[in-house]
Amino acid sequence: MNWKPAGLIYQARFATVITDDGSPTIRDLGIANQECMHHSGGAYQETQYIYGEAIRAVIKTCPNPHFLVVGLGLGYIEILIACEWLKSQPSGHCQVISFESEAYWQEQFQHWLLDEPSELWEIHQLRDDKFKQDYPEEITQAQDWLKNHLILENELTYLPQWQGQIHGILFDAYSSKTSQELWQEDYLIKFLQHYSAEHCLFVTYASTGSLKRALKFCDFMIHERGGFQGKKESTWATKNL
Ligand SMILES: C[S@@+](CC[C@H](N)C(=O)[O-])C[C@H]1O[C@@H](n2cnc3c(N)ncnc32)[C@H](O)[C@@H]1O
Repeated sequence: MNWKPAGLIYQARFATVITDDGSPTIRDLGIANQECMHHSGGAYQETQYIYGEAIRAVIKTCPNPHFLVVGLGLGYIEILIACEWLKSQPSGHCQVISFESEAYWQEQFQHWLLDEPSELWEIHQLRDDKFKQDYPEEITQAQDWLKNHLILENELTYLPQWQGQIHGILFDAYSSKTSQELWQEDYLIKFLQHYSAEHCLFVTYASTGSLKRALKFCDFMIHERGGFQGKKESTWATKNL
């Protein structure tokens, strides 16, 4: 694995890591466990494996899907939704609501959206090169699409306008060691009860006892799914789907 310090100002805050499939991720040095945003085996491949199939399933089954992403980070999931939507060219309307507690990641992503220079320019290019292999056309339109279909929010909270409206929940928070409160059973129950639509798919890279209990309590059915590259389990859960 190749470590590369990022821009001078933020050098002490994070490091860029090139994962095994050539796509970049970030190790956040400012948080307790200095956790990486993605699996070292491949940031792009992990996003495809954990969230790609779920995104395609929601697009296929919901005419006007609403996606909710927890943890924008480098925006892999949001870009994947854009590419998949553009590839399948459905007639409905798609909305993506994405939460990110760190203003810095939001700002950097906004710069990319607007084609403005930024400290993460190189990282964004590397990420997009990876998308280009599977979505040569769509990646060139993803920015414009996201400008019209993405709503960026701060820390995860309960927005009244999306209550009971979300068909695809893509839960990509840091692990329970780092983001303890987001993985607690009571918190997850409140979150699922607030956001999930009548028909809803919930996916995440991890699987914990409290998450399983919360999903069952909220009438989700849990389907067995292995984790990415040797991880024992990930979570794929459906409600009326
Ligand atoms: C695993 S990373 C997400 C990676 C991202 N999905 C990507 O594709 O690059 C987790 C992200 O969640 C953000 N985060 C942590 N706590 C949060 C909270 N309470 N609400 C929203 N975002 C949070 C972190 O700042 C970090 O960017």
